[in-house]
Amino acid sequence: MREEKPKDHYLFVCTGSRCSELSLQDDEGASLLQKKIKAEIKAKGYDNTIRVSKSGCLGACEVAPNVMFQPENRLCSGVELGDAEQLIIELCKTRTQS
Ligand code: FES
Repeated sequence: MREEKPKDHYLFVCTGSRCSELSLQDDEGASLLQKKIKAEIKAKGYDNTIRVSKSGCLGACEVAPNVMFQPENRLCSGVELGDAEQLIIELCKTRTQS
């Protein structure tokens, strides 16, 4: 067994069917958003502390599309492809408040 140090923050992009079919346009939308967020995190130099992952349904389909910050347990709803930079700004605000 190998043990690795976890990242400080995780950002889960929901790729469930409801999130994918709404403003993310299609199944590719959630993957594109994840890629944009990853690129934004790397450009800002946070890639050693923040990990971006896809997730299944986050249980909030009624306000889809969704992205979840952990361990802050914060849900960002109504996310669109152009929101990648804003999501990182929001996460950074959360980080400075904790
Ligand atoms: S499919 Fe995304 S919250 Fe349910």
